[in-house]
Amino acid sequence: MARDDETYLRSSIDRNKLPVHIAIIMDGNGRWAKERKLPRVFGHREGMKTVKTVVKLCGELGIKVLTLYAFSTENWTRPKQEINALMRLLRKYLHKEMDELIQNNVKFHFIGRLEQLPELVQQDLKWAREKTANNTGLILNLALNYSGRADIVDAIKKLTADIENGKYKREEINEVLFEKYLYTGSLPEPDLLIRTSGEMRISNFLLWQIAYAEIYITPIYWPDFSRKHLLSAIIDYQRRERRFGGVL
Ligand code: FPP
Repeated sequence: MARDDETYLRSSIDRNKLPVHIAIIMDGNGRWAKERKLPRVFGHREGMKTVKTVVKLCGELGIKVLTLYAFSTENWTRPKQEINALMRLLRKYLHKEMDELIQNNVKFHFIGRLEQLPELVQQDLKWAREKTANNTGLILNLALNYSGRADIVDAIKKLTADIENGKYKREEINEVLFEKYLYTGSLPEPDLLIRTSGEMRISNFLLWQIAYAEIYITPIYWPDFSRKHLLSAIIDYQRRERRFGGVL
């Protein structure tokens, strides 16, 4: 059996050492399209297919949380046509895939300044959250209009409001309390952060939450990222020694 065969890769995975939370910076849609002399939007459309593939595999493997960086606060500077296409793709994904996602027990969670998204998108997010509220499988956490710095600033605002209204005293602030105020407050922190298309950057993603995440960067463009690539990333993660700043 070839070492990059899917069956071989699957059999190499230790089910007892799976990352609980995988976060992905889905990069390279534009370059994928450019290489094919296609408009950028085609890259995003193809990227949506990868989203489906990755969500399905994470569900099959029993991963608890998958966070996908779908739209950053910086993405508003892109041409209006591209922004609209991304919003349309997101809505299409939610509507077209909902039945299958429910069958697969997927539960939606969204992070970011959601109140600044177009009204129709906000309605769909609410709908998706409600439709999947009772599901108990993979938590699919989509980062939309997300910025790691804004996440921290918004948490500070909410925490200081709770201090002003007497819920907590200033002396009670610690890391455990603070992170409950982040958009990811109810979720475990990522164990594995994957970035496609080779850039060595964090791009304002989950700044607080990735303190101890293992980082895996692959040159593969997001539309080409396959089941085999995700399995390889998990195997790579499992080979690493996680010390959390200590010694073993
Ligand atoms: C980065 O590629 C990708 C994005 C900014 C958007 C990701 C969106 C999708 C995969 C489609 C829909 C998403 C969901 C969740 C249904 P880029 O455009 O920055 O690529 P480049 O760096 O090569 O230009």
